[in-house]
Amino acid sequence: MPRLRAQLASATDPDWVQVILDNFDDFLIDHASCERKAMAYAMSVIVKYPDRTEIIPDLLQVAQDELDHFRDVLELMEQRGLQMIPDEPDPYVNQLIKICRHGRDERLLDRLLVASVIETRGAERFRIIAEALEDAELKEFYRNLWATEAKHGDVFRKMASHYFSETEIEQRSQEITEAEAEIMVGLKWRASLH
Ligand SMILES: [Fe+2]
Ligand SMILES: [Fe+2]
Repeated sequence: MPRLRAQLASATDPDWVQVILDNFDDFLIDHASCERKAMAYAMSVIVKYPDRTEIIPDLLQVAQDELDHFRDVLELMEQRGLQMIPDEPDPYVNQLIKICRHGRDERLLDRLLVASVIETRGAERFRIIAEALEDAELKEFYRNLWATEAKHGDVFRKMASHYFSETEIEQRSQEITEAEAEIMVGLKWRASLH
């Protein structure tokens, strides 16, 4: 039975969210940059694989959703008098990119499955944040993001199924989710999504 839903190999520590609640403004600034990078990631797959036309509509939809999220977070920041800051290296995403293999097809599969795990982790954490927040409007905002990012996790997995067998996807996906769980353990908690 093929596993259609993207999953994680570990759950976020329940104490993590306190760091976010205690530094919510800093978290918002990081969150905005995550949305912008997620948009760029989806677009970069189109740029690198222009011949994979079957997945372009899904990639465009993801990029569009992320652009909408970016705009929404910027609006929240503006209401709070916050501005973007220059990007800092993101050790989580950088380590995940490093495990992507180099052959053209292998790299496509890995880039899609890495995107899937990043989206699924984002969804998990937005859910945790939505549940922990008290402000009704913010709660609703993060609840909606949770739903969209969870869908993105599945969409990237589905994109892979255009070009790879279910066995290949399943096997590689397991390796990537396990590597992701290990990377999570090594990260210092900051007021950031990862
Ligand atoms: Fe997003
Ligand atoms: Fe997303």
